[in-house]
Amino acid sequence: MSKITITDHPLIQHKLSILRDKNTSSKDFRILIGEIAMLMTYEATRDLPLKDVQVETPITTATTKKLAGKKLAIVPILRAGLGMVDGVLNMIPSARVGHIGLYRDPDTLSPVEYYCKLPADISEREVLVVDPMLATGGSAIDAITQIKKRKPKNIKFMCTIAAPEGLEALSKAHPDVDIYCAALDEKLNEHGYIVPGLGDAGDRIFGTK
Ligand code: PRP
Ligand code: URA
Repeated sequence: MSKITITDHPLIQHKLSILRDKNTSSKDFRILIGEIAMLMTYEATRDLPLKDVQVETPITTATTKKLAGKKLAIVPILRAGLGMVDGVLNMIPSARVGHIGLYRDPDTLSPVEYYCKLPADISEREVLVVDPMLATGGSAIDAITQIKKRKPKNIKFMCTIAAPEGLEALSKAHPDVDIYCAALDEKLNEHGYIVPGLGDAGDRIFGTK
């Protein structure tokens, strides 16, 4: 089964509480979701491989560490995943960015794919798939299935809020994918929304409702 990490650092919990508040503006929502993504990246990249390098400090020559190999590919699931990209890029500026466009059919709740553009050298990279919400898990499962066809070195999934239903479905469909979330909420409601959640993440980021 997938390794599941709840990144419940106090700074993340504080920001998440403001994010959930229905009175938080789109402007503040965008800032907060970026900051949460940045803080979560610290945990999600903890096991990145390192290599020894020689550095001339002003005092002496030292053997220190740098990241080994090609940097990550970040893949946001459109639209709402876009809100997390800059936060991750703040930590890993040379990461490449792919995009997968999916929306949930409001009646069936099944994902409908409308766009996929991934870095050409994705097979040489570790991939971090980002989306604020893991609800039924359908969108994340579909996106990761698409990405796996291009044989990346490894895939991790990072979201702000997960529902138990989505965590179970994703970890069953892709047991090799580690999952990072800032909060595990109670359940889904009859419309497939996470309870208590934060509402529709895409609409809140882009102010479309
Ligand atoms: C939201 C969210 C996830 C998906 C999660 O996207 O950003 O992609 O729902 O639900 P699931 O786990 O049940 O698949 P939505 O379909 O609302 O599209 P949007 O980001 O374009 O608003
Ligand atoms: N997508 C969202 O944006 N919010 C939810 O609660 C569930 C799916």
